[in-house]
Amino acid sequence: MEHKKLIKKPLIIAVVGKGGVGKSIITALLAKIVSQNYNFKMLLIDADPTHPHLSNMVKLIPKISLEMIRIDVINKTLDKEKSIQELAENIDFEVYNAIVEGKDFSLISIGQPEDPGCFCPSNTLLRKVIESISKDFDIILIDCEAGLEQINRMVIKSVDIILIVSDLSIRSVETANTLRKSAKKFTNYKKLGVILNKVKGNIEHIVNKLEELNLPLLARIPEDPNITEFDAKGSPIIDLPNNSKSLSSINKLVEKMLSSKYLME
Ligand SMILES: Nc1ncnc2c1ncn2[C@@H]1O[C@H](COP(=O)(O)OP(=O)(O)O)[C@@H](O)[C@H]1O
Ligand SMILES: [Mg+2]
Repeated sequence: MEHKKLIKKPLIIAVVGKGGVGKSIITALLAKIVSQNYNFKMLLIDADPTHPHLSNMVKLIPKISLEMIRIDVINKTLDKEKSIQELAENIDFEVYNAIVEGKDFSLISIGQPEDPGCFCPSNTLLRKVIESISKDFDIILIDCEAGLEQINRMVIKSVDIILIVSDLSIRSVETANTLRKSAKKFTNYKKLGVILNKVKGNIEHIVNKLEELNLPLLARIPEDPNITEFDAKGSPIIDLPNNSKSLSSINKLVEKMLSSKYLME
């Protein structure tokens, strides 16, 4: 295991992209490889309120979510059970309680809102949480919700690296371009690149489109029968065998992102 020094601590990495492209799988595999190869204190954030699958994939199931904390604070304020001052002082403590600590990394989950209409309040809390707890970790990996919301609402404003996951469709590459436009406007990212996932066959048209849009291609992750099998059975992706097809490109990606040159070039 390598005792590497990070060029910036905490290094905040957000995984974004449209629904179903493989954001959660890739976040879980990044966590697997980083924890196997390096000695960093890492926090994963399951930030997708509609498809909160990351915790199952990495076998860390939180008892409390940020949304539960938020609702609890609102109820206690309404009941006048505690003063607003007391509640404000307590919320940091509650947030720390929501972090599940595993052997190799920790995880916190945004949770599912009772009212599916609007995720704005839970996103606001998430932004504050990222700001306040990130200093306690070396690396933060965020599995974002699909689309632009968490970028546009500046939930991930202080992000360092944005990984846009795309499948092999031109539409998905166009989404990547839209995501970059928003990210430029609303975040302070230092590096951004595309991860092509479920790669098979001839992908020349996609690579050409990325070049045309000047979107850097960071990794090509092949379609992996082990992922398909694990996902079908509901087995945790973190237990994917190390000789799986997808893992050599994940290994290279991790090495690149954590090299001291990458953030500076
Ligand atoms: N490299 C891959 N090879 C095969 N199947 C994959 C791969 N990456 C993702 N998948 C499959 O794609 C689907 C969506 O993945 P998921 O990570 O849940 O997407 P997202 O989080 O972006 O919505 C899952 O069924 C998953 O098994
Ligand atoms: Mg997901």
